[in-house]
Amino acid sequence: MHIELSSESSNQTIEIGRQLGYLLLQQLRGDSLDAGEGAFVIALSGELGAGKTTLTQGIAEGMGVSGPVTSPTFTLVNEYPLVDGALIHMDSYRLGESADAAMLEADTLGIDDLLDTEHAVLIIEWAERLRELLPTDTLFVTLCYDRASANGRTLHFQAAGPHSQHLLQRLNAAP
Ligand SMILES: Nc1ncnc2c1ncn2[C@@H]1O[C@H](COP(=O)(O)OP(=O)(O)O)[C@@H](O)[C@H]1O
Ligand SMILES: [Mg+2]
Repeated sequence: MHIELSSESSNQTIEIGRQLGYLLLQQLRGDSLDAGEGAFVIALSGELGAGKTTLTQGIAEGMGVSGPVTSPTFTLVNEYPLVDGALIHMDSYRLGESADAAMLEADTLGIDDLLDTEHAVLIIEWAERLRELLPTDTLFVTLCYDRASANGRTLHFQAAGPHSQHLLQRLNAAP
């Protein structure tokens, strides 16, 4: 399943993220994301400045994270505890130039444990570098610049498994 949303401002991207975060929280609470399958992964791709961190800030708000969400460019992984789970935010930008190097460093970083975390949503920026490690039921989001306007972005959402498809259907139906 694939849907496309356009955003004309960073606020609009935050709002899309908020909606997604709210739906995610409902799925976490409804236990539909807890089948011993580990974290639910959101894989973000897109050029520098496309809005990956901005979208994540919205998702975090929608999930009820209080306080600021900052880019994990240097910390690599930030973890935000929730009442009934956690939001984990990871950035693969500095993990190495080639996919092989990135995977090796991700291994050192404990990516397996992150992926195995129950009741968690794991958001990964520059996720294409770790593609082989990602579960099938991942929500893939690619953010693209619109050449026509400085603040225009198109967000492509791709889901290929039951949880991600369910989420995307609900996002698509949201007002
Ligand atoms: N429609 C939009 N959606 C997201 N960010 C936007 C948009 N328009 C302008 N921006 C700006 O682009 C930048 C996006 O930065 P950031 O989210 O850190 O990108 P990334 O994490 O992909 O490198 C921010 O400065 C933000 O204010
Ligand atoms: Mg970023």
